Amino acid sequence: MRVVVLTGAGISAESGVPTFRDANGLWEGHRVEDVATPEAFERDPVLVQRFYDARRRALASVDPNPAHRALARLEAELGDDLLVVTQNVDDLHGRAGTTRLVHMHGELRRALCTACAARPAWHDDLIDGPPCPACGERALRPDVVWFGEMPYETDRIERAVATCDLFVSVGTSGAVYPAAGYAALAAAVGARTLELNLVPTMGIVAFDEVRAGPASVVVPRWVDELRRSRAG
Ligand code: OAD
Repeated sequence: MRVVVLTGAGISAESGVPTFRDANGLWEGHRVEDVATPEAFERDPVLVQRFYDARRRALASVDPNPAHRALARLEAELGDDLLVVTQNVDDLHGRAGTTRLVHMHGELRRALCTACAARPAWHDDLIDGPPCPACGERALRPDVVWFGEMPYETDRIERAVATCDLFVSVGTSGAVYPAAGYAALAAAVGARTLELNLVPTMGIVAFDEVRAGPASVVVPRWVDELRRSRAG
């Protein structure tokens, strides 16, 4: 059985990473167009670098929660038949042990060189303009996909969604495309669709099944159920 799991900010909420659109969401202190667009970076690179430096630093004080760990257990069970697609720029899936993983909106712990397009792993601040390890230019920006930019690996994701048997959406509001369209694509090819969310969304697609609850509870429960059904 081939499974694609799409995750959003809700899966990391209980780890202490704020979501985007809930109350106290990340954007409350900053208007999105002030920090998450290429135009904002051109206008005020210091503000944007400082904003993402702070978010990168904050990763040091958060840990994967039971939902991230459950998806790592699912990979141990399904191997290549599982692809986790995350919209999150935190590194909690990776730290939990998931390896078949696409960071479609980029990663805080990578930099992107605007001179040579290298994407080096990056754990420090970018505000002081360190040189790119590949080309030496002081042209590094956060490797985060901003509004108006193309997400990563959309072809690979669409292939996986178009050939999956089960599509599961975890903790995402379905407000941002192309991710918001994947459930409809999965449904169109006959896959079963399941939503796991604290507050289920009412998007363009009606999921076959919806389970409401915090990710740390509903995700491990679903994963254990799936593993039991395969064992029995
Ligand atoms: P949102 O902030 O839009 O939505 C968060 C979702 O998580 C909501 O549907 C909540 O109901 C749900 N949620 C909150 N706490 C939860 C919990 N404990 N357990 C389960 N679910 C919970 O975040 P995303 O959908 O991820 O893009 O946002 C998508 C994209 O919009 C982000 O990747 C980002 C942003 O603009 C870029 O940066 C390009």
